[in-house]
Amino acid sequence: MKAKIAVLAGDGVGREIVPEAVKVLKVVAEKFGHTFDFAYGDVGGQAIDKVGVPLPQDTLALAKQSDAVLLGAVGGPKWEGLEYSLRPERALLGLREQLGLFANLRPAKLYEVLADASTLKKEVIEGIDILVIRELTGGIYFGKPKGIEALPNGGERGVNTEVYTTEEIRRIAKVAFEAARRRRKKVTSVDKANVLESSELWRRVVIAVQKDFPDVELNHIYVDNAAMQLVRNPRQFDVMLCNNIFGDILSDEAAMLTGSIGMLPSASIGAQVGLFEPIHGSAPDIAGKNIANPIATIASAAMLLSYAFKLDREAHAIEEAIVKTLDLGYRTKDIHSAGSRLVGTTDMGEAVVRNLK
Ligand code: NAI
Ligand code: MG
Repeated sequence: MKAKIAVLAGDGVGREIVPEAVKVLKVVAEKFGHTFDFAYGDVGGQAIDKVGVPLPQDTLALAKQSDAVLLGAVGGPKWEGLEYSLRPERALLGLREQLGLFANLRPAKLYEVLADASTLKKEVIEGIDILVIRELTGGIYFGKPKGIEALPNGGERGVNTEVYTTEEIRRIAKVAFEAARRRRKKVTSVDKANVLESSELWRRVVIAVQKDFPDVELNHIYVDNAAMQLVRNPRQFDVMLCNNIFGDILSDEAAMLTGSIGMLPSASIGAQVGLFEPIHGSAPDIAGKNIANPIATIASAAMLLSYAFKLDREAHAIEEAIVKTLDLGYRTKDIHSAGSRLVGTTDMGEAVVRNLK
């Protein structure tokens, strides 16, 4: 196939890890006979320095005209003093909003050879492969009324409202069932239907959507129990379908079961162009030293192939190359332990490339 990929490296370690992921995509193109056009754009603090805004019009246009966006990270101490609307992080919100990215997908998968890096016991986390799907543009972060109002007694009242419409629930539920179909065919929908009406509707709509996916098993779980089960018996989960706030919290919990932040990819998808990025930030403390772990970004590139282009075989090849590289003992500093082979960012990228070829 032929596709155009927008590459937005951004700030800090973004500038080091994104080139490694691009190298890997180029090898995939060569090996499987695809043509990927890479178009580079400015984003975040680096865009502020160049043209004064975190999300230039050119970059937005580039993202919209592309078939997928690969992003590094934005932000850093240099831009922290700026007023909120001019901060690098605004670029992410702008992209989410403008691309209509209503679904955030975060896999939490354990690489067996790294089982010791987790804070949980090996026998609890062994074999976990969870995909948390978080609704990203609705719910309590956006619902109205919202705000802080003065009360006659001199106190104040803070208000947020959890709102979901049938259509908002339907489209995120579809993403979950479609993802489950390509995995172990099990969706666990997280809600608080025993207390919240918004959750009652959520559950009803999810049950209705499942009628179109009879091959996928559906379970429901209350969010408090989900938080508990994630640390008690995480292997029971395949796809976890969550509203915005429950997904925000549970995706962090699930991610940390597997160890280093430098390993974890994410996808944000919507009606058109999807955005793929590591879950970590610009890591200013290690930027420019060639020590950042590029695997989260390389794995994000694999998600890009799978979710944006339905190239599952190619995505799988990248994942296998990552596993092989780890099995051979290659480790960046964040996942290094005695007896393994300490390498830098570019060496890790090159090792994955070698194992992919
Ligand atoms: P961070 O994720 O950048 O770093 C947290 C810790 O993890 C640091 O110790 C860092 O060295 C380490 N780390 C992160 N990525 C790594 C990698 N690939 N390999 C090895 N170690 C890695 O989060 P932090 O420090 O809270 O934020 C730094 C900046 O990044 C801030 O300006 C923040 O706003 C921004 N940020 C941007 C995000 C994005 O672009 N999506 C997400 C989170 C934060
Ligand atoms: Mg969070």
